[in-house]
Amino acid sequence: MKRVDDFRLRLGKQELVPIVVGGMGVDISTTMLAIEAARLGGIGHISDAMVPTVSDRRYKTHFVRDKMKLYKPNVDSADKSSVQFDLGLLAEATRLHVGRAMEGKGGTGMIFVNCMEKLTMNAPRETLRVRLTAALDAGIDGITLAAGLHLGSFGLIEEHPRFRDAKLGIIVSSLRALQLFLRKTAKLGRLPDYVVVEGPLAGGHLGFGMDWEKYDLRSIMTEIRAHLEAEKLTIPLIPAGGIFTGGDAVSYLEDGAAAVQVATRFTVTRECGLPPAVQQEYFKAGENDIEVNEISPTGYPMRMLKNSPAIGAGIRPNCEAFGYLLDAHGNCAYVTAYNRELVKHPRVKHAQVKLAVKDKTCLCTHMRNFDCWTCGHYTYRLKDTSVLRADGTYEILGAEHVFHDYQFSQGQAIALPTLG
Ligand SMILES: Cc1cc2nc3c(=O)[nH]c(=O)nc-3n(C[C@H](O)[C@H](O)[C@H](O)COP(=O)(O)O)c2cc1C
Repeated sequence: MKRVDDFRLRLGKQELVPIVVGGMGVDISTTMLAIEAARLGGIGHISDAMVPTVSDRRYKTHFVRDKMKLYKPNVDSADKSSVQFDLGLLAEATRLHVGRAMEGKGGTGMIFVNCMEKLTMNAPRETLRVRLTAALDAGIDGITLAAGLHLGSFGLIEEHPRFRDAKLGIIVSSLRALQLFLRKTAKLGRLPDYVVVEGPLAGGHLGFGMDWEKYDLRSIMTEIRAHLEAEKLTIPLIPAGGIFTGGDAVSYLEDGAAAVQVATRFTVTRECGLPPAVQQEYFKAGENDIEVNEISPTGYPMRMLKNSPAIGAGIRPNCEAFGYLLDAHGNCAYVTAYNRELVKHPRVKHAQVKLAVKDKTCLCTHMRNFDCWTCGHYTYRLKDTSVLRADGTYEILGAEHVFHDYQFSQGQAIALPTLG
């Protein structure tokens, strides 16, 4: 019976263990987790979601405080169009975040950054260009384009000296999305170095509608592989979403996948950014405690634990400090929903009664505070990957333990940790 370790991922001249730890914003896939995946010979992702906020937490910078100070007079205004990111400071924050990850990297693996197009930041093109450019400047090994079609993203960095040497890939959930992307990149004579094919069981935002249950990863992979073969295109394909055991991974590698991208099993590791109490919520969750809902202001369905504090909360939008989801006109679906509730309950503001906003959530603040417990479909199986401690909580795992379990286990076996 084969193991993941019998396979290797070839990216250019580099040979890697075919395990990619997916990007998990905001600071869930931490620098430490990415460094660990690279040390073990695979690929780890950091995320560029809300980097100024993450930098403040990790590196004691003051990007958020200074932005808040600048825009404080706008807090009570419904019009957020003036709340712009300073592009120089955004570049500085990105270079710091990426630079620290690259400085810490050892081993034979690589570190990539997950870059979401839906993070529109009140100036979509300009802020995306800065984030991509600054990541390349800071020496990132590769960029995984996510949460969007990214039809213009390669064009934003085509003049960068590293455009052809850094590894560039994209996450798609359908052949159609990939075709649109390839049509654009063909014009620049630059194919992606890899394509992550993400199915409907993944965590975070989904590239499907609320009918996600009708789709399955293996069928999408088969369709995309057949298309690439017909077009005589050799691009490594990396399936993601619901690959829970070494055996699951092997079944995709035997089917022609170049590697697998996994995330959920790493949410309960020490290197992951989720606070330990939240990790226990992930362990405890049953299948019925997980839902896909439409409360993300991005417009994409998102999977999360039903008891996430973010669901139904009516906190005041904090765009002056954050504002990562403001569109090109300064709008965010949460701000609209919040203001609608304020109009319906005009006395709430002064009476300090808590407002409830059911249809959307303030994703920036809740992701920053780890109050939106986004998760993969198989989160309810995490309890089978650990052991119960005497106090009724589950043992938190090491990222190395989980990585090696994927790499060396056979079939559906899952290695349990020893009690620490
Ligand atoms: C907690 C969590 C947060 C995630 N956040 C992001 C994200 O910010 N951007 C993204 O492209 N994918 C995100 N994902 C998706 C993963 O990178 C990965 O592709 C997918 O979850 C793999 O499936 P698995 O979790 O079943 O292993 C997230 C997944 C999880 C579990």
